[in-house]
Amino acid sequence: MTGKSPAIAALAYHDGEFVPLERALVPVTTQALQYGTGVFEGIRAYVQVDGGLAIFRAHDHYRRLLRSSRTLRIEVGKSAEELCDLTVELLRRIEATEDTYIRPLAYKRALLPGERPGVQLLGVSDALSVNAFRMGSYTDPAGISCSIASWRRPASDVLPVRAKVTGGYVNNALAVDEARAAGHDDAILLNSRGHVAEASTSNVFAVVGGRLVTPPATADLLEGITRDTVVTLAADLLDVATDFHDLGRDDLLNADEVFLTGTGSEIVPVTRIAGRNVGDGVPGPLTTALMTAYQDVVRGKDRRYHHWLQAVHPA
Ligand SMILES: Cc1ncc(COP(=O)(O)O)c(C=O)c1O
Repeated sequence: MTGKSPAIAALAYHDGEFVPLERALVPVTTQALQYGTGVFEGIRAYVQVDGGLAIFRAHDHYRRLLRSSRTLRIEVGKSAEELCDLTVELLRRIEATEDTYIRPLAYKRALLPGERPGVQLLGVSDALSVNAFRMGSYTDPAGISCSIASWRRPASDVLPVRAKVTGGYVNNALAVDEARAAGHDDAILLNSRGHVAEASTSNVFAVVGGRLVTPPATADLLEGITRDTVVTLAADLLDVATDFHDLGRDDLLNADEVFLTGTGSEIVPVTRIAGRNVGDGVPGPLTTALMTAYQDVVRGKDRRYHHWLQAVHPA
């Protein structure tokens, strides 16, 4: 963390208007609160090399939000472009000038008149909120320690794991809780077939036998936008192709490098897994090169990827 917390103007987009954050509230009867029937995103805006602020891959995040919404029959009522514009307006209104985290949430709210109480998706109204707060990098560039969770990632015939559904995060929370109780920073979850799925809020990459590998989408994971960014940057800038194939627990224990990717965590080296060093126990060369390339891209230093940046305000 940068150490400085909240304290930008506290506003949210809530129920169609910009309101003070303390008024962006939901009743206790909210269906999503009771049944986990919401979908969300985590998006970052970065201070640019020229001093301006820009949102990274906002359109891709909102397209994923709309896909997740379809799965839960949530009518967001806005296009990805409109959601991007709304977010730019929110950041301008809160006068964000530092690295900012944006949290859109689309959710099932109240039973429509005449509907009987119960767990359902049809017959329930929909709502959208977006809030944002100051947040710099918070992961340790020197590397973190991960457990292999005893909690398995649910299979896609149990939960729609490729959608970012609030209720599904009970699984992630239990895995993180178990990892932290055992002195680790994060948890890597295996899927029901015993292959690596992902970490609690990020995707997993490993360097195995000189090859960069990440589990395929069919490994019951959320297809991260950072994962896609890393695959692109590795190919374009480092001439390293990514293999998409299943990884076992032993692949991780034998890997030369392991790192996690996520909007919040960015690229974070994993230097210990299940109490053992990964490689030499320090961030590896490919991980380090990708961390540098990623920062250059999100901060607008590498102009080849300016199409991924949406300006909030110029320098
Ligand atoms: C479970 C899970 N997997 C992977 C990711 C990484 O996704 P992204 O890179 O789009 O942030 C996240 C974060 O949103 C997540 O919560």
